[in-house]
Amino acid sequence: MKKNLMVLFSILMIASLTLTACDALKVSSGSQLAVGIVLPTKNEPRWVQDETRFKEALTAAGYEVEILFSQGDSAKEKANVESLIAKGVKVIILTPHDGAAAGAAAEAAHAAGVKVISYDRLIRDTDAVDFYVTFDSISVGTAQAQYLVDNATGTGNPLYLYAGASSDNNAFLFFEGAWNVLQPKIADGTFVIKNSSEASALQNKAVLTRDEQAAIIGQISTNWDFDTAKNLAQANLTAASAADKGNVFILAPNDGSARAVADAFAADEEITSYFVTGQDVEKASIQYIIDGKQSMTVFKDVRTLVDDAISTSIAYLIGGTPESTHTYNNGRIEVPANPTTVITVDRNNIQSVLIDSGYYLATDFTGLK
Ligand code: BGC
Repeated sequence: MKKNLMVLFSILMIASLTLTACDALKVSSGSQLAVGIVLPTKNEPRWVQDETRFKEALTAAGYEVEILFSQGDSAKEKANVESLIAKGVKVIILTPHDGAAAGAAAEAAHAAGVKVISYDRLIRDTDAVDFYVTFDSISVGTAQAQYLVDNATGTGNPLYLYAGASSDNNAFLFFEGAWNVLQPKIADGTFVIKNSSEASALQNKAVLTRDEQAAIIGQISTNWDFDTAKNLAQANLTAASAADKGNVFILAPNDGSARAVADAFAADEEITSYFVTGQDVEKASIQYIIDGKQSMTVFKDVRTLVDDAISTSIAYLIGGTPESTHTYNNGRIEVPANPTTVITVDRNNIQSVLIDSGYYLATDFTGLK
């Protein structure tokens, strides 16, 4: 919280406001928060990480925080937003389950004078979004693809592509970042795509339109779901010949998908070795990396995102404007943002990046050297 408290302090100084941060965060009196948080599902470890880090940050500062989960249901998400509006919050931090479907909830919040912060995932096709608190998601895909490139030698390496849910704008950003790095290496023969006819048909095109990305993602989506990922990988392996196997390279969009896909590839006798990417530093994936079953993950420090969401909320609560360095087009408007950088993690830097920084305890894992 230190960085944000300093940011907050500067905001307060510049504005010469007598309002304190504590006052700003409260609904009226007591410790009830003027900010409501809606996360997409408890079923994916990523959002449980965010819940934990929000609670840590806010309860440490003395606030009761109510975090609502939409459980992968846009109707429930809208009901969550409406219940927060009814409670009198002034800012809603929302991670949409489905980026476009969340537009109606954001518009309901705006109609009630509530500021809307899109958290991690972009709410699409509406002007009712005030700010986007996010990691640099294109660079997540870049880091994943670069890892595959750095570990490939020669030509003709089998490449299997997987992506997240089409309803999640991030799936497009991750794929775009990965394509930027992989496409030249497909064009020069380093990799050969084995599981997407749409991607193969576009392999000489450096920059894809959203429709082209959607056509590819439609074929390779895990829908952010473990079983979908596993079934798709198994179907791809069944369709592939022995020559398409051997030592393979797998772009997997996140840790849940990575473990599911990795299990399917590991079970195929014609796969001699594989590299597989991920993201989120889920504990189960850190253990997979230690055990040599997943190659890498991308560390998106949720503590930073939570701090950014809180300082952005405070800026609105005291009538200010949060600082932005970028904008993201949500299909309707350019949404201001200040994206946070990410870090590639593999077995060589688990200790320095995750343990030494206090993100995880060494005792969370076995076999860590
Ligand atoms: C997030 C990822 C997460 C995925 C599935 C994406 O929008 O950025 O961190 O793994 O959703 O929940």
